[in-house]
Parts: sequence; structure tokens; C-alpha cells
Amino acid sequence: MLAIVQDSYGSADVLQLREIPTPVVGDREVLVRVRAASVHPDVWHVLTGRPYVLRIMGARVRRPRNRVPGTDVAGRVEGVGRRATRFRPGDEVFGECVRGHQWHNGGAFAEYVAVRERELARKPARLTFEQAAAVPTSGLLAMQGVRDQGGVQAGQRVLVNGAGGGVGSFAVQLAKASGAVVTGVDVAEKLDVVRAAGADRVIDATHEDFTRTGARYDLIVDVPGNRPISECRRALTPSGTYVLIGHDGFGPRPGRGSEASAASSASSCARRS
Ligand SMILES: NC(=O)c1ccc[n+]([C@@H]2O[C@H](COP(=O)([O-])OP(=O)(O)OC[C@H]3O[C@@H](n4cnc5c(N)ncnc54)[C@H](OP(=O)(O)O)[C@@H]3O)[C@@H](O)[C@H]2O)c1
Repeated sequence: MLAIVQDSYGSADVLQLREIPTPVVGDREVLVRVRAASVHPDVWHVLTGRPYVLRIMGARVRRPRNRVPGTDVAGRVEGVGRRATRFRPGDEVFGECVRGHQWHNGGAFAEYVAVRERELARKPARLTFEQAAAVPTSGLLAMQGVRDQGGVQAGQRVLVNGAGGGVGSFAVQLAKASGAVVTGVDVAEKLDVVRAAGADRVIDATHEDFTRTGARYDLIVDVPGNRPISECRRALTPSGTYVLIGHDGFGPRPGRGSEASAASSASSCARRS
């Protein structure tokens, strides 16, 4: 099959399109014919090999363990393993193909990928493959932040910082679906997206500082993490909860990568099965 392959860590220049063997499915896996795969910050982390700590967490020191990037996939089931029972050939599915922690390549940037069946769900017919492939990792981080760690309740006031981005737009929708009153903060050009996601109120981060409006929130989901927690505390009720998803400036900073992002992402992913 054809696949995007990375033989070393680096910029996008290390990626090559070439023929490799089609994966063999394990007993409880299914072979997915890939129709769409998405890109998010963790894909970038494994492409660059930064922060360096991910290399000693199983991604390998000189080159990634799995050479084919991509963790989020949508496609059609092509074949099933001997003990896989949930899907049949022809089913349209989406899910996560990464194994272990999220700093491994998952193999989605290829014509076919073998995925554990428990990591897949049926694709709703009203979603395109592209839409479905954009959901898994960003949606999971938002779910963990809003529901698991944030413990959102109906009627609570929730602020999502970075509300127009990958994680934030899911966080707004999940908080709204839980009955919260949601304020979304992002740069001006993202505010239409934030409103469309369901935010009751929006704040243009380039003109207004959400920590200094006097408003208090029961839950702040801070996606970029671009403000000190001490400042965010000003906008919390006395019993409010602050959830940090990432940090501003992830990417290839020389020598360091994004340790702060790594720490916060790891903590926000602590409950992943
Ligand atoms: N998405 C994932 O699956 C995933 C996986 C692992 C970790 N994370 C972590 O989550 C964090 C965000 O990921 P993401 O995918 O949601 O990123 P994203 O799509 O870039 O979202 C961040 C949002 O924040 C906005 N923003 C920029 N400056 C801002 C400011 N001063 N105040 C408020 N908002 C501002 C960005 O606008 P612009 O686009 O205009 O800059 C963007 O809309 C990263 O730190 C990353 O490490 C995400």
C-alpha cells in the first residue's frame, strides 16, 4: 500500500510517500481502508520528536517506533481479525489508531491501517469522513476537560479559552449540551466559529482580558494555556475549577520542544483507558 513514512524526526521535509506492506490485523483488530485522517498537535510532536521526553516514553530515541504518522482516522472496514465481533467489512467507522500513549504514531496516513476494534465507532451517516476524522483526539481532550476533570453541571457558568480551535470548539459544544452557560474566548476571526458552536457570549481576546472583566466562572477550560494560572484564578468562583489542556507555543523550540504542553497534555489525558 502507499503510505506517508517518517524515517527520522524533523520537519515536514522528512515525510516520504512510498510503498510499504499492508498491515496484518491482530485477533481483535479491523483493517480500515482510510478515507480521511486528521492533523493535530500530537501528530506534530511525534513528527518533530519534541519534547524529547516523548522519545524515552516509548516513541524511541532516533526514529519513531511506528514510522507512519496519524492517530485519528475515518474509513471503511476492509477486513476483521479472528476474534473481532463489532464490525463487518463495508461498515463506515471512525476512531483512534494510536496504541499506548498519544505520543506514538498511529499509522493513519496510509491507504490502510489496523485498528483495535474497541477504539472505533460507527460513523454517523450525516458526517463526512473528513468531519469524523477530525473528532477523536480533540473531542476526547475536550470531553476529559469539560466532563471528567471539569465535572460540568447544568446551569454552571463555563469559560472556554481558545474556544474556536480544535479542542475548544468541542469543549463549547459539550458544555452547552450539559446545560451550562458558555463564554468563548478567542481571536476576532474565530468568534463566528465560537458562536456557531453554541457559545452564549464571546470575548475577543485581542481586545478584552477575560480575567479582568469582573465576571466569575464555575469552570474555566484553558486550551492554549497562554495565561498564568494566578491570573485565571481571578475569573473563578471560590469553588471554581480550572482545567488546563495545553499551552501556548507548542512546537519545535530548539532544545526544549514543549515540556509545559507535554506535562499538561499528559495530565489531561491521565484518565484515558
Ligand atoms: N487538538 C488536539 O487533538 C490536541 C492533542 C494534544 C494536545 N493538544 C493541546 O491543546 C492545545 C490546543 O490545541 P488545539 O488543537 O485546540 O489548537 P488550536 O486549534 O490552534 O486552538 C487554539 C485556539 O486558541 C486561539 N488563540 C490564539 N491566541 C489566543 C489568545 N490570546 N487567547 C485565546 N485564544 C487564542 C487560536 O487562534 P489562532 O488559530 O488564530 O492562533 C485557536 O483558535 C495545544 O497546546 C496542544 O498541545 C491538542
